[in-house]
Amino acid sequence: MVLLNEGRMFECSYPGSISNLLGRHSLLLMKGVLHKRMHSLTMSFANSSIIRDHLLVDIDRLVRFNLAGWKDRVLLIEEAKKITFELTVKQLMSFDPGEWTDGVRKEYVLVIEGFFSLPFPLLSSTYRRAIRARTKVAEALSLVVRRRRAENRPGTTKNKDMLGALLDAEGGFSDEQIVDFLLALLVAGYETTSTIMTLAVKYLTETPQALAQLKEEHDRIRASKSHPYDLSWDDYKSMSFTQCVVNETLRYANIIGGVFRRTTTDIDIKGYRIPKGWRVFASFRAVHLNPEYFKDARSFNPWRWQSNSGMSTTGQVFTPFGGGTRLCPGYELARVEISVFLHRLLTTFSWVPAEDDKLVFFPTTRTQKRYPIHLCRHDPVNDVDQKQSSSE
Ligand code: HEM
Repeated sequence: MVLLNEGRMFECSYPGSISNLLGRHSLLLMKGVLHKRMHSLTMSFANSSIIRDHLLVDIDRLVRFNLAGWKDRVLLIEEAKKITFELTVKQLMSFDPGEWTDGVRKEYVLVIEGFFSLPFPLLSSTYRRAIRARTKVAEALSLVVRRRRAENRPGTTKNKDMLGALLDAEGGFSDEQIVDFLLALLVAGYETTSTIMTLAVKYLTETPQALAQLKEEHDRIRASKSHPYDLSWDDYKSMSFTQCVVNETLRYANIIGGVFRRTTTDIDIKGYRIPKGWRVFASFRAVHLNPEYFKDARSFNPWRWQSNSGMSTTGQVFTPFGGGTRLCPGYELARVEISVFLHRLLTTFSWVPAEDDKLVFFPTTRTQKRYPIHLCRHDPVNDVDQKQSSSE
C-alpha cells in the first residue's frame, strides 16, 4: 500500500542532513512530474536492452580487469566497492578506471560515511568532513559536465552514456541539476550492489551445497567457450540458479531494510489512523523474514526460488528494489553486475574465509571485518587486458 500510493497518500521523505549530502536535485528527493520524467530517463539507461547491447561487455571486462589484480588475500567488500564504483562511472560518463576515478572515489567514501553519522555539523566531524567531500566530488563532476557541454556541439561524435542523455534531454538541465543527479546515482548503486556481492559469497561459503551447484552452473558456461571469452546476454539468461542465489541474498540480507515516507492525508489502515504529516517506515525486512510468506524464513535457502515452494506469493511481499513509481531503476543492472561478478569469481578462484567475520545490521548491513578471504587462483585465462588510462 505504501509503495503503490506514492504521490497520493504518501510521499518520500528524507531528513535534511541526507538531502544536503544528496543535493536537492537528486532523483531520490524529486517529486511529481519532474520525478516521473527523470525516473523514466534513468530507467531508459539501465533497461535490459541497453545492458544487453552495451553495458554487459563493460561490466564483464571491468570485473575481469579487477580480478586479474587480486593477490592471495583480499577484503572482499572493498574490492566489490571498487568494482561497482568503476562500473557506475563508466556507465554514467564513459570513463575507464584510472586516476580520476580513484581520486573521486576517495572523497566519495567520506560522503557515504556522512549518511551514517550524527547530522549536526557542530557535533560531528564525520558529517562536516562528508559535506566538504561532497563539495569536492560535485566540483570534479561539474568540471566534467562543463567540458562535455562544450564538446557537445551538433555534428560532433557523442558518447552514448547517461551524461550524454542528460545533456541532450529535451528542455535541458542545468549543470547543478546534472551534478546532483549523477552524484545520487553513484550513491544509490554503490553500497547496495557491492554489499550484495559480498554477502552472496559469504552465504554461499556457509552453504557448501549451494556453492557447489552454482559452480556447476558457471563451469558449464565456461566449458562451452573458447578462451578468453566475453559473457553474452544468452549466458546471463542461462544463469538460472544464480538468480535464485541473488534473490535469496536480497531477501535474507535486506540491505535496504525499508523506506521512509510521509503521509499526505489521514490514512486508516487495519483499524489504525495515521494522521497527515506523520513519518512512516515501510519495513521490507519484517516482510522478507516473515515465516507466513517465506517458509523457514531465517535460513538461507536459494532453492526456494526454484520451485517457489518455500514461499506463498512473491509479488507484493518480495520488494528488495522497492516498488511503484519509485521502483529502483537499477534493479536489472544490479542483478547483471552481481551475476557476472559471481561467474568470474567462481571460474577463476576458490577461496576460504581468512578470519571469522560477523554480520552487523546497524547503521548499515555489512560484515564487521569487511570479509577477508584467502584466494587460490585456478584460471589465469579469464584475465583481460584493459586500457588502464582514464579518459580524463
Ligand atoms: C542490490 C542493489 C540495489 C538495491 C537493493 C536497491 C534498492 C533500491 C530501493 C529499495 C529503492 C527504493 C527507494 C524508495 O522507494 O525510497 C531504490 C531506489 C533507487 N535506486 Fe536502487 N538498489 C540497488 C541498486 C541500484 C543501482 C545499481 C542503481 C543505479 C542505476 C540504483 C539506482 C537507484 C535510484 C536512482 C533510486 C531512486 C529511484 C526514485 O526515487 O525514483 N540502484 N533502490
